[in-house]
Amino acid sequence: MSLARRRFDTLVIGAGGAGLRASLSLAGLDASVAVVSKVFPTRSHTVAAQGGINAALANVLPDNWHWHMYDTIKGSDYLGDQDAIEYMCRSAAHLVYELEHAGVPFSRLDDGRIYQRAFGGQSQHFGGAQAARTCAAADRTGHAILHTLYQQNIRARSHFFDEFFAVDLIRDEQGYILGALILDIESGEPMLIEAKTTLLATGGAGQLFRTNTNAHINTGDGLAMALRAGIPLQDMEFFQFHPTGIAGKGMLISEGARGEGGYLINAEGERFMRRYAPQAGDLASRDVVSRAIYNEVKAGRGCGPRRDHVLLKLDHLPETLIASRLPGIRQLAQTFAGVDPARAPIPVYPTAHYTMGGIPTNRHGQVVVPVGQGEETIPGLYAVGECACVSVHGANRLGGNSLLDIVVFGRAAGNHIVEYLKENRFHRPLDEASVAAAMARLQRWDQRGEGESVATLRADLQQAMQEYCGVYRSEEVLREGVVVLQGIRARLNGVRLQDHSRIFNVARIEALELENLVALGLATVHSALARRESRGAHSRVDYPARDDEHWLKHSLFYLEGERMDYKPVQLKPLSVASFPPKPRVY
Ligand code: FUM
Repeated sequence: MSLARRRFDTLVIGAGGAGLRASLSLAGLDASVAVVSKVFPTRSHTVAAQGGINAALANVLPDNWHWHMYDTIKGSDYLGDQDAIEYMCRSAAHLVYELEHAGVPFSRLDDGRIYQRAFGGQSQHFGGAQAARTCAAADRTGHAILHTLYQQNIRARSHFFDEFFAVDLIRDEQGYILGALILDIESGEPMLIEAKTTLLATGGAGQLFRTNTNAHINTGDGLAMALRAGIPLQDMEFFQFHPTGIAGKGMLISEGARGEGGYLINAEGERFMRRYAPQAGDLASRDVVSRAIYNEVKAGRGCGPRRDHVLLKLDHLPETLIASRLPGIRQLAQTFAGVDPARAPIPVYPTAHYTMGGIPTNRHGQVVVPVGQGEETIPGLYAVGECACVSVHGANRLGGNSLLDIVVFGRAAGNHIVEYLKENRFHRPLDEASVAAAMARLQRWDQRGEGESVATLRADLQQAMQEYCGVYRSEEVLREGVVVLQGIRARLNGVRLQDHSRIFNVARIEALELENLVALGLATVHSALARRESRGAHSRVDYPARDDEHWLKHSLFYLEGERMDYKPVQLKPLSVASFPPKPRVY
């Protein structure tokens, strides 16, 4: 197979908000940038982010970045790194104004300032009254941000490779990352992109679970590429379940719906959240609300003929408010649940939403791995956004902090790459053995196989993750989960590519995505089995308490040998006093 080769200063893999914000910094400074995306950029999953982006602008209620920092650390159940969290919360206002000036059509207050709504886990004065920190463009904020960043990249002349799939990183013996092998989805032809720096911005892995809010493309490709390159994944046991997915289907009904005054009720018509979170109620953090819904259903207070969901009530709100602030979720509820939320409540249940763990990085986006007692960066490799773990979300992300994460760390990585390129002006010699290994893995999928189909195996994987690694976990169930997932990995060998006849390449991409998901499923289940405590989104029925003495540490999962390691949490912020762990109540 012939192999086309191209050279750039920087290769950005993924064209969601994180990748596009980084490429914008670079293209603006005359670095040559290739942006590779397996879908047309404006179809990247950032487009689906609904409720908004957090920044303490204080447009609606008093606010400041330090309260935002406190809320984020508490939200993370103290597993977030406080230096990175301070950096993110301090940068937020500047970056939101930058987005506004770049053209993001934010909703407006009567006086023209950016509209902000209340979201879960937000407070004034370090745990006091509810704050309103989430800057919104109706309930289509991600859509507005993604389109704006794409347009700015077109203006800056970033070079896009649309509908190219990234297969594997290329690495030399000294550990430098030299680019990646990619695949033109339309023609099926591979191509090698050599780059002095490579940035992974491929998003999360929500497709691990049967019921999720994620696009079909969210198969964690960058995470799996890092694993195969020998890089561990951090904190993979922490997967966020969003409390309000459309019951039985999973599509996201934004937390913004509760921020605008919506609330949850059980079959008895009770506003049950006050029992679980006396102060914050429906706007407690997501892990708390998801567990509450699960418990209500388990206790027999679920709604509907199967008593398997609760209801989100919005029909007491003015129809004009729903039309102006929540038009997208109204459409979603009409299409997928058959209800108009202005007239009847929406059936909801927790749904897999966000990968808190990921590729370990520092706050410049550089990938860092443990070496001896310390850490080293992987030269030439960066990661930002949902595929990275910097770690600002720790054990539980606050709503509205993911859009913030992608612009803050996308920009930080872009800026750092500019400096790296000044010191590393020439391409390093290509490592042909690494190219050959990537090609060999790709060519394995040239055979169609005779066994079960990729689709069957993917469905089995999603079912297994849902069953063995859901909202509540235990030693026994997780152990079984590891065995089931190892079995699924073994079944990959004989898998039959779906016969799409003329679009055979799509079948090969589906197989490559499945291989990625299986590796990430193993990372998640192993990490969850190892962590014997409950913290944030990781709830162990057999270890129900948080255990700071033994478990205030980040986990690291290595694919080779399926082994775990650990590293300390950064409790020291950059310039302010630390927020030491304390009991977390809402
Ligand atoms: O509920 C939402 O609108 C989701 C926002 C987020 O995940 O940050």
